[in-house]
Amino acid sequence: MAQQVEIVRKFLGRGYNISPEALALLMEQDIGEVDSLLDSIPDKPVIELHDLEEALRRMRRRVERQTSYATGEVLEGVSIVKSPTNLGVKGSPEEFVELMRKRFQFLKSVLMSKNGIDPIPISNLLNSTSRNGDRVLVVGMVLEKRVLRDFSIRMEIDDETGSIPVVFKKGSRYWDKADKIPVDSVIAVKGTFVNGKLYADTFRIPDLNGELVRPGSASGRVALVSDIHMGSKYFNEEAFGRFVRWLNSDQARDVKYLVICGDLVDGIGVYPNQEEELKISDVYKQFQLASGFLERIPKDIKVVYIPGNHEPVRQAEPQPVVPEEYLDPLLEVRPDLIPLPNPTMIGIGDIRILVYHGRSLNAIFKHIPGLQPIRPESVVEAMKWILRLRHLAPIYGEHPIAPESEDWLLVDQIPHVLHVGHIHVYGVGEYNGVKIVNSGTFENETPYIKSLGIEVTVGKAPILNLKSMEIEVKDFSS
Ligand SMILES: [Fe+2]
Ligand SMILES: [Fe+2]
Repeated sequence: MAQQVEIVRKFLGRGYNISPEALALLMEQDIGEVDSLLDSIPDKPVIELHDLEEALRRMRRRVERQTSYATGEVLEGVSIVKSPTNLGVKGSPEEFVELMRKRFQFLKSVLMSKNGIDPIPISNLLNSTSRNGDRVLVVGMVLEKRVLRDFSIRMEIDDETGSIPVVFKKGSRYWDKADKIPVDSVIAVKGTFVNGKLYADTFRIPDLNGELVRPGSASGRVALVSDIHMGSKYFNEEAFGRFVRWLNSDQARDVKYLVICGDLVDGIGVYPNQEEELKISDVYKQFQLASGFLERIPKDIKVVYIPGNHEPVRQAEPQPVVPEEYLDPLLEVRPDLIPLPNPTMIGIGDIRILVYHGRSLNAIFKHIPGLQPIRPESVVEAMKWILRLRHLAPIYGEHPIAPESEDWLLVDQIPHVLHVGHIHVYGVGEYNGVKIVNSGTFENETPYIKSLGIEVTVGKAPILNLKSMEIEVKDFSS
């Protein structure tokens, strides 16, 4: 009886009533499971028996999956190298401060380890009267940056102890390089200290130098796609159909993996008037459409799927796995689908692929001079900045970030491949031994994308050969 009361109280606490049949079934369950079960319950005032059966099924599937991930178990050739866990924050100002502090600490340690340097704390510099004219080195995060009337660049940088203005004179060797550095970067600056300011002569960013990854090896090929936008009027069904047919052909027999890097569906209400771009305005039906395609993908291909900003899941990065209620039709046809958070680093053999949807690319294009217009070459250039600044979202404040207890967006472990999407323009390149891939889109140009001045590249899918590490961009547009 006490258990019955406890269960009913838990349900009522979340605003649910339960039917007598559902309650009878619940009584057979372990009380410890009820909280986890509540997360899988549909949003209805009264929970009937079939709702509960459905929720139990989802919960067990989720628990099974999480256990296999947690043990680092290899999921038939795919391993989870690094993936956000225990997501959930209050979003208090203290948590944001703590997140930035951790980012600073890590990036500072990268700079120090590489240069074998010991920077001077900014407050020591400012509090000392005898330092005028000294050549010093500081490490700080760029708080603010502007170009002065004489075209010098002035940055305000701070460390844990204080902040100081840093000036890069126009015409100095490092001016061009400094011009490209966006706010929130962590830099090591060497210069002359004069009257409270640091006149810079050299500086460094964390970068990848000296950390070249050892080549890995695996067999087979992996198809990298993103931004399919099922449910949009502009989803190019023919092109995606051709891609799926190709996966079934002899030519693709050694394609053993497929990575879907977010925006599989178009979602609802993603930006103002987005519903006018929809053909299917029910997000569950968008996932049903996706399941139809997924069903036709050969069964021996392992499919990895992370959310983007169009998926019905928390928008703040890192984004958790797409909720079970939406995944249902996908898991029905592909119980072996591997849904993961955004971002996640997966492993195939000993090749590490960092999969990130890429919302930060908007800010990178906006704030780093010289990248526009958005074209395949500049997409590669923009993605290089993720590696140079060692953070997936190096510029803070342009899209929501959740201040989790760990900064999951830091590029601490260097991947062999960085796979991003979001910008709807493909790009393939390399930076210091890391393959850079943007998988473009299967959505034709939308009025919204057009308003951003982006020339989309539709129906191109980069295919990575895991043995040779060569990337072939297959064109399914016609
Ligand atoms: Fe997209
Ligand atoms: Fe996107």
